[in-house]
Amino acid sequence: DQGFIMAYLIGVDVGTTGAKTILVDEDGTLVASALQEYPLSTPRPKWSEQDPEDWVQGTIATIRSVLSVSGVNPADVKGLGFSGQMHGLVLLDESHAVLRPAILWNDVRTTEQCYEITETVGRQTLVEETCNPALEGFTAPKVLWVREHEPEVYDRARHILLPKDYVRFRFTGDLAMEVSDAAGTLLFNVRERRWSKTVLDALQIPTEWMPPAYESVDVCGKVTASVAEETGLAEGTPIVGGGADNACSAVGTGIVSEGLVSASLGTSGVVLAHTDTPLVDPDLRAHTFCHAVPDRWYTMGVMLSAAGAFRWFRDALGAEEIARAEAEGVDPYELLTQRAEQAPVGSEGCIFLPYLAGERTPHADANARGVYFGLSLRHGKNEITRATMEGITYGMRDSLEIIRDLGVDVTHITATGGGARSEFWRQMQADIYDATVTTINQAEGPALGAAILAGVGTGVYDSCESATDALISPTTENRPAMENVPIYDEYYGVYQDLYHALSPQFDDVADIVDRVTR
Ligand code: XUL
Repeated sequence: DQGFIMAYLIGVDVGTTGAKTILVDEDGTLVASALQEYPLSTPRPKWSEQDPEDWVQGTIATIRSVLSVSGVNPADVKGLGFSGQMHGLVLLDESHAVLRPAILWNDVRTTEQCYEITETVGRQTLVEETCNPALEGFTAPKVLWVREHEPEVYDRARHILLPKDYVRFRFTGDLAMEVSDAAGTLLFNVRERRWSKTVLDALQIPTEWMPPAYESVDVCGKVTASVAEETGLAEGTPIVGGGADNACSAVGTGIVSEGLVSASLGTSGVVLAHTDTPLVDPDLRAHTFCHAVPDRWYTMGVMLSAAGAFRWFRDALGAEEIARAEAEGVDPYELLTQRAEQAPVGSEGCIFLPYLAGERTPHADANARGVYFGLSLRHGKNEITRATMEGITYGMRDSLEIIRDLGVDVTHITATGGGARSEFWRQMQADIYDATVTTINQAEGPALGAAILAGVGTGVYDSCESATDALISPTTENRPAMENVPIYDEYYGVYQDLYHALSPQFDDVADIVDRVTR
């Protein structure tokens, strides 16, 4: 191996809580990582905004940190890729100055604009062009909101970018997007991977405002001299298109060929399936977006409170376990999980609906709320704890069933996120999903995916598939326990019915709360 020089790659995830940068070698080994958090502002109810400058400064600081901690020669960093929070609207004026704070994916001020879009564009055109419904979080309704509420800002607007693409613009001086994030604007023809003139015209948004949309592995800029100075990167380091965080996370989890599915139990829950052709739920319950793998797609369901509902349970009802965990130096989740293990499969009829923050997939209902159903005198904390974990997992299965309905044969699922760390929860997932659940040797998800895309774009790897084959391997495997599957199946049927039975009451309560707390 004399004369062999290791190639390095950098992946940056421009997230909602902060910028996370990893530096990996070509074997996928993590050499250094750094996180810089930044604030999120909610100047009014339903609003969620960030200052794009914070993303840029967070990215610069974390890149500087990984370079200096690792001591890697910047010339050996072959490429850089960005992953980013999806959907956020960044508006630039003629001279490329940011016009207002970015409006983020979790901002829900745009309900009216969503109705407007569905009306103007038509549901069928949305199915055909954008492959997604008008949801508050997506970019297009935010553009309309600015036009209606801040016309003086809108009049000066000339360019639309998404969060990570703004950072790349600052790094390279070039305006660009790539298909996986463009797919989340609701202004993109997801099937044909190009801007939708039909939708842009219908909404009277100038097509010239949209930058060119590259494939995620395409090199679409080089680090400028001034950014090289600020970060320590070599001037001219290639930067690829990168991708939406969910697409990058799929790449970093190895979900890059037909039939592969991941289930991430984080604060929110994401079930994602790679597809070779765009598969669109005719009822638009799940999202269909362009994948970061060239000319491929994914279908995804997003649950708003997944492991986040278990965190709520720990904080609201787990004081005893939190105290005991601190005394024993263990994780409170471990103690809660031990309780759940004492309860029977199906928690003797107690069913939890995890809609603590409303729900996206499959209900798209902001008024839905959490429920414990079926309590009896025999139910204690063990059963209620188990019911909480089961209810969250039934919610994940809802997304999985949409993917199955589209014809994907799901027999193996890669589990990630906090929920994948527990052997008990992994087995519960296998039993409820009726699929083999595996975990993998990589935990960096989106940032690793972005680094892999940079490697593919710069020739370090031949393709996303060959890169993930080399870098990602399974670590654990749980097969469904045949005696549990039919029991969970029956309870899951009741779980599905409960939302529909309670939906009118969710609306009634939302209305009362709104009036009483106003
Ligand atoms: C996806 C979505 C979120 C953001 C989070 O549609 O809104 O997952 O990408 O960053």
